[in-house]
Parts: sequence; structure tokens; C-alpha cells
Amino acid sequence: EKSGFKHFMLKEIYEQPKTVENAIRGRLIEGEGISKLGGLEPVLDRILNLKRLTFVSCGTSFYAGLYGKYIFEMLTDLDVDVDYASEFRYRNLKLSEYDGVVAISQSGETADTLAALREAKRKGALVLGLVNVVGSTIAKETDAGVYCHAGPEIGVASTKIFVSQCVILNLIALLLGRRRGLSIFDGMNLIKEIKKLPENIKFVLDNGENIRGIAKKYLPFKNFLYIGRHLNFPIAMEGALKLKEISYVHAEGYPAGEMKHGPISLIDENFPTVAIATDGFTYEKMISNIQEIKARSGKVIAIATEGNKEIKEIVDDVIYVPKTIDILQPIINVIPLQLFAYYFADFKGRDIDKPRNLAKSVTVE
Ligand code: M6R
Repeated sequence: EKSGFKHFMLKEIYEQPKTVENAIRGRLIEGEGISKLGGLEPVLDRILNLKRLTFVSCGTSFYAGLYGKYIFEMLTDLDVDVDYASEFRYRNLKLSEYDGVVAISQSGETADTLAALREAKRKGALVLGLVNVVGSTIAKETDAGVYCHAGPEIGVASTKIFVSQCVILNLIALLLGRRRGLSIFDGMNLIKEIKKLPENIKFVLDNGENIRGIAKKYLPFKNFLYIGRHLNFPIAMEGALKLKEISYVHAEGYPAGEMKHGPISLIDENFPTVAIATDGFTYEKMISNIQEIKARSGKVIAIATEGNKEIKEIVDDVIYVPKTIDILQPIINVIPLQLFAYYFADFKGRDIDKPRNLAKSVTVE
């Protein structure tokens, strides 16, 4: 059932245009710039009264939550927080009925996420789920929720579900935002760009051979740094997680602004950096980070906006991606990082769909 792909992970990466279509089907009303999420309707009144929203999850789903924090801050007037489920559950939180806790989980069975949501429930918060597996424990124990409708994800490394989660977080933010001051114009514009995501993702997938070539070139390296700012910081983290998880090569993600506070001392000709430097309000600052790395003989692979010739002169390798609005750009930027990790691990002959020591759903704490 790999449909001709060598691994499920690759198949799932290539399914992503479809995954986005499945995530948004019947859920967008373009003319009114709003979203419609049937699963949240029973608790809509409570949702509209919330003052704070906290995302809890693990691993890749945690990075989706981190992205969610930025977009909810941009699209709604809620206070937003995010935490690893495994940490959230130990905190002495002052939660009330004005708190919403969103458990994000592909499997719906992750033990820490389940424990976090039970704790939030005990303290009176409204507990929502963003889950892929229908009828899973988290889906059952939440007050209401939204399904990804992405079909099964077999590869242990999560790819299409991450993209699905990020898209749906936009739909939820739109639902709340439009009742809290987000203009119809902004709502319509967001929907217009969400609808373009499948073709934009396809553009990156069509460049797979080029990304494979770059992955091959970097095979000798044993350490990688991934950097990004603001909305692309979660993507840097996710890119690094993908690489370490399936290739067993050390990679760490960092907010680019932290470079000077420590990690830059790691940089030399043997320590390459993947820099997410697409157009947007943090672009100039990313270029300064890249220049600082180049000045220390560090190699740089940049993820940049199609048509940016300037960056080609500065870095060692560029992977171009199509441009969308800032809020959605991370969803496109993660695709080349998935492919880079995949090909890198495949060249190393790793057991990509079942990496050592890992399970698809982590039901132990
Ligand atoms: O099923 P969940 O989304 O709750 O799983 C959370 C993590 O275990 C999961 O995302 C893990 O980090 C992946 N293997 C990452 O690719």
C-alpha cells in the first residue's frame, strides 16, 4: 500500500496537498471570511467566552502547538500559552472556566497528553482536541474537537499530520478571530491563501530531486543546526526533530536570535546550518544571522522565497519555496525540511518508517 513509494514516510510527504484539501473540505465560507467547524459547535458559546487558550502536546504535535500560539496571537485577542504535555501536567495551574486547553495529538493516545487534558479538566477548563485518529481516547475524553481527516499515518515520523494540524489551527483561529475583531477582509484573505496551499506544497514536492541532491551533499556532516524566527521558529525545531529522529544524526533547532547567546560557538566548517529565510518581517534579521555564520566558515542551506537571487550569493545551497502570507508560510517551509530529512536518512540506509527506539504512539509516560 505504499503506492510505489519506497517508504510510507515519502508517500505521506507526497500526500500533503491532498491532506490539506481533506483538512479544509466543507470548513471554509469564503464569502464571509469565516470557518465552520461542526465538532466545535456544541461548545461554541463557551469557546467564545474564553480568555486564555493553552496548547498541550508532545513531539511534532508540540511544534504544531507552538506555531498555534503565534497564529492565535495574531488572529485573536486571547492570551495564548503552549507547553509540552509532559511538563504541563506537573504545573500548578490556575485554570478556570475561562480557560481552554487544546490537546493536539495524531494518535489520540499519547499518555502525557491524556494526563495533561485530564488535569485541565479537573481544574474546570474547557478541553478541546485536535486529533487524527477517530474515536481515540483523547478524542473521547475532550469536551469537543476537530478531526484532521488525514487518513492513517504509518511512518513513525509525523509529516502530513503536522501540516494538517497547522492548517486546522488556522481554521480554529479564524473561527474565534472573526468573532473578536478580525476583519472580513483579513478572514477572506487568509482563506484565499489557505486554498492555495495544496498547489504551493506541490511546487515544493516537484523539486524533490533537487532537495535529494542537497541531502546527498551534506551526508558527511554529523551535526546540524536549524534556525528560524517567530512563526518559523517552530519549523526550525520540527526540521531538526525530523532529521535526528530518522537519520540518527544530531540536529538542534534554535530561535535564530539566540545564536549569539551560545550556539554560535559551535559553528565551524563542520557544523552546517539550515536557515529558514523566506520573505517576511524577520527576513533581514535572518540574513544577518546567516552572515554571522558564513563569517565563521559555517555552511548554510537556506529555505528562501522563489525569485530571491540575493541569498544565492551568500549561502552554500538554497531551496526555493513559493511565497504566501506570513501566517501560512511555515506550512510551506516545513515541506523541504521533511524531504531533506527523508533523503538524508535514506542515503544512510536507515529504517525510516520504524526508526530505532521509537513507537508510533507513546502510550507510556
Ligand atoms: O500521536 P501524537 O501526535 O500525540 O504523538 C506525539 C509525538 O509522539 C510524535 O509527534 C512524535 O514526536 C513523532 N514521532 C515525531 O515525528
